[in-house]
Formats: sequence, C-alpha cells, structure tokens
Amino acid sequence: MIEEKTVILRTEHLKAFYLLEVHGTQKTVKAVNDVDIQIYENEIYGIAGESGCGKTTLLKTLFGEIVPPLRLIDGKIFYRIDDDEVDVSRMKSEAKRKLRMEYISYIPQGSMSVFNPVLKIKGTFADFIGSHVHGQSRAEIFELARERILELGLPKNVLDVYPHQLSGGMRQRVTIALAASLNPRIMIGDEPTTALDVVVQRGVIQMLKDIQKNLKNTIVLVTHDMGVHANIADRIGIMYAGKLIEEATTEKIFAQPLHPYTQFLINSLPKFGDKSMRDSVPGSPPSLADLPTGCPFHPRCPHVKDICRQEMPNFHHLDENHKVACWLVGEA
Ligand SMILES: Nc1ncnc2c1ncn2[C@@H]1O[C@H](COP(=O)(O)OP(=O)(O)O)[C@@H](O)[C@H]1O
Ligand code: SF4
Ligand SMILES: [Mg+2]
Repeated sequence: MIEEKTVILRTEHLKAFYLLEVHGTQKTVKAVNDVDIQIYENEIYGIAGESGCGKTTLLKTLFGEIVPPLRLIDGKIFYRIDDDEVDVSRMKSEAKRKLRMEYISYIPQGSMSVFNPVLKIKGTFADFIGSHVHGQSRAEIFELARERILELGLPKNVLDVYPHQLSGGMRQRVTIALAASLNPRIMIGDEPTTALDVVVQRGVIQMLKDIQKNLKNTIVLVTHDMGVHANIADRIGIMYAGKLIEEATTEKIFAQPLHPYTQFLINSLPKFGDKSMRDSVPGSPPSLADLPTGCPFHPRCPHVKDICRQEMPNFHHLDENHKVACWLVGEA
C-alpha cells in the first residue's frame, strides 16, 4: 500500500541572509541560500551538516524567527493549517506568535536559555503556557504541567526545583517536555542531544521518538551527529554552505550516499569494533560571506570537474525519496 503523505511545512527558494556592517563595509552572510524543502506530517526529518553550514538559521527561519541582522531575502515558507497552506513569510508577527507552542514549537540549542534562572521549573511552564492559553488560573496551568511531566516519564519533583539544580540531560528533557506541552503539530529541535553523554543522549532520543509517536506530529531535528540521525530520523537532508545538497530516507542516505560530501560525513562515523581513525572531511567549509563559484563543495571535492567550478548543479531525482545536487549524478 502506498501511503499518502501530507506536506505540513515547505519552502520555496528560501534565502535568509545576515546583513552585517564590518569596519564600514557591507557583508552578506548567505546562511540559507535557495532552499526548497518539503516536510511531511508524522515524520522525523533530520538536517545534517558541519558547523556553520546554516542549520540553525534554517530552523529559525522555518519557525518565523527572523530578526536583524537576519533577513528573509527571498522565497516563501508555507505551513499547512486546517487543510489550507498559509504563507508564513507574509504573516504579521502577532499572527505568527499565536501559532507558537500550539502549532509549532522550538527547542533552541543550549537548554539553559529557555529557563528563567530565578524561577522554579513550574514558573517557566506557567509563563510559557499562560502566555498562550488564556483564561486558565496558575493552579490549573501547574496541574497541566504536572500531567505532561508525568506522561513523559519525568520525575514530578522537577517542577519544584530551579534550573541550575537539574543535570544537563534532565534540563534538556524538561525543555522538550515544555515544547511538547501544548501538543504542537510541528516541533523543531536544534542539537537537542549535543553536549550530552551517550547514555543520556539515548534517553533524549527515545523521548523525542515517543512524543512523535504519541502525537503523530512532525519533528524537524538538527544535529551534526550522523549517528544520532541514524537512530531517530525517517528522512535526512544534508546541508552544505547554506544549501540542501542531498535528501533521502535515512536508510538510503546510509546505504547509498551519492554526494561526495554525504559520503565523507558517513565515512567519518566510527564503525562498531573498528578502532582506526576515520576519514574526516578534508579542508574546511567556505565562508558564507565569500562563497566559491559553482558547486560550493568544489574546493574540497576529490571528484571536481571543470563544470563544478562554474555552475551549481540542479537536483537530480533518483526516485520520489532521493535527490542529489552533484554533477557526477544523472544529468544534473
Ligand atoms: N546572529 C548572527 N549574525 C551574523 N552572522 C551569523 C549570526 N548567526 C549565524 N551567523 C552566521 O551564519 C552562518 C550559519 O550559521 P548557523 O546557522 O549558526 O550554522 P550551524 O547551525 O549549521 O552551525 C555562519 O557563517 C555564522 O557565522
Ligand atoms: S558537483 Fe562537482 S564539486 Fe560538487 S560535489 Fe559534485 S563532483 Fe564534487
Ligand atoms: Mg547551529
């Protein structure tokens, strides 16, 4: 049986740049550079790529958090709301604010930033929920927070302590519980497992999987760690220098990576039982304020051809679920 998939979030030619003035000269950092992405209902979509390739900026833009020096230069972002596609890029900030928590929620990188250090955890819950659900007393909101915390398998006393009293892993789980508290259709997570040790990481991954399964919602998850993607994502998009360069189901990305950059990312993963050093990607990523011509990977690519230096390849679609932008593949 072929399952119908509903696109819940998509972009068209999305360009989000930081416009900076450095020592009197204008700099344009092309952090999201012409990205077309389609994310489905009821899936975990992973976004991978080295540090500085624009992952966080893409998430912020998808969430509608576009504040100077970040500017939406071009393109559109659509949310699917009650069978309608809504162009979020044209929405007023008040309308966007109303979608927060209930329709789309964001788990920012570094859990500490979410909390008010002088409030107990329940105070942060009350502030978040109270600013979105009106007409509920503080006691009712505490009760809702308590229910959510227990449902998600966290100890109920976490509500009665201050953020600094929690371990890093517990704080991250509380952040996720907060983002899930109003059953949003879309949850966006920025490196939620980074900086945690492997055992704690596993708990966080399982928690995200359980939430997605229960709510049948969509999770968009950024991490540079391909091992985490292997454990959690249904599909993966690989980003390089502000662009999406390959996308496929997790199985395909690992079994048949086609872009030379994706191949490097996968080959650099430690293999079970193999203690030798793995190949990391040679060289370093380009400055997004001064991109190379053509394919941005060409200065690092072992397969570079003349055309690679001149023109960025379009996507070649291998099948419905696998596309890649590289001159080596198909008639790209
Ligand atoms: N607030 C900002 N002001 C200016 N440049 C920024 C800002 N945030 C990020 N950048 C730049 O945008 C590029 C992409 O960054 P980011 O989206 O954080 O990448 P990633 O999450 O993949 O590490 C980088 O070159 C980074 O230096
Ligand atoms: S387009 Fe060319 S430079 Fe870019 S990844 Fe493919 S072969 Fe390498
Ligand atoms: Mg980041």
